[in-house]
Amino acid sequence: EKGTYPHYMLKEIDEQPFVIRNIISKYQDENDSIKLDENIRQAVTDADRIYIIAAGTSYHAGLVGKELIEKIAGIPVETHIASEFLYNMPLLSKKPLFIFISQSGETADLRGVLVNVKEQGFKALTITNVPGSTLSREADYTLHTYAGPEIAVASTKAYTAQMAVFAILAVDAARAANVEIDFDPLQELAIVANAMEIFTNKKEEMEQIARDFMSVSRNAFFIGRSMDYHVCLEGALKLKEISYIQAEGFAGGELKHGTIALIEDGTPVIGLATQKNVNLNIRGNMKEVVARGASPCMISMEGWEDEEDTIVLPHVHEYLTPLVSVIPLQLISYYAALHRGCDVDKPRNLAKSVTVE
Ligand code: M6R
Repeated sequence: EKGTYPHYMLKEIDEQPFVIRNIISKYQDENDSIKLDENIRQAVTDADRIYIIAAGTSYHAGLVGKELIEKIAGIPVETHIASEFLYNMPLLSKKPLFIFISQSGETADLRGVLVNVKEQGFKALTITNVPGSTLSREADYTLHTYAGPEIAVASTKAYTAQMAVFAILAVDAARAANVEIDFDPLQELAIVANAMEIFTNKKEEMEQIARDFMSVSRNAFFIGRSMDYHVCLEGALKLKEISYIQAEGFAGGELKHGTIALIEDGTPVIGLATQKNVNLNIRGNMKEVVARGASPCMISMEGWEDEEDTIVLPHVHEYLTPLVSVIPLQLISYYAALHRGCDVDKPRNLAKSVTVE
């Protein structure tokens, strides 16, 4: 039930720090190490390549999942849109593992791929918020995201939960393969949960930013590089689906290859700058759009922030910044939709789970 909250979406945004703490406790054993099914560990370490298959917001979590598994465990990963993969399969490696990532566990596009790869004799792991769902039952293994029921059509807490589980899975695989790593996901996720709370407690500020940037705009751009780029795709999807503002997530360096033609006086451009190695590059990209009249809203992270940044995230591990940077984007979308009089929890033309192809 949504209790005193006006919308499920706002309640679910607020629940995220608790969901992350819940995930920590579910995946922690009595020695504070990672607790994970031995068979899943084996399946991941046996694979010569992982194929992550998903749709919508879960696809965006899968893009971050790829970065985490490749960077932490050193296993090659491809992330694919389920509906594309089904009819246009790439050449597969010799020992692939398929990871299906789905909040509902019922998305038809994913089921099509699952049936196909099972027929070919490949192993499948489903990461879902609903164990017992179709994708969970039909896969060989399931990892639970423990986010609790997500009612709002716009996915929020399932997304951050999925990325947290990917971080844990990546480290578990790295340890199983004796890869040296200097990253404790359970400790770092606890820091993330605290950082998330700072934003869920700053609703008035987020509402003001939504008013300043989104109240009259027809369109909006989200720009970022590397991890931040994936979060930009998610920020744009969130804004589109509930506020109906046309929004695009863009790789900062790609803007000048065409899209910059759309920047006019007052066009909102939200920039993400949480990654140290591309910090100067994304700031350069922001200058380019500001020179063409854009209204900038820069979201950076403590450590490499700039005085004029609109939002500065508390410092969290660079692998986990998406879990925190998405919170202001979710809140800005929520308030933008609210001020435009949109039905936040049930946007037009959309269903919570897409069970037809
Ligand atoms: O249940 P799933 O995670 O498989 O759903 C996938 C998408 O339909 C879903 O993420 C959709 O994009 C959301 N409405 C986004 O907020």
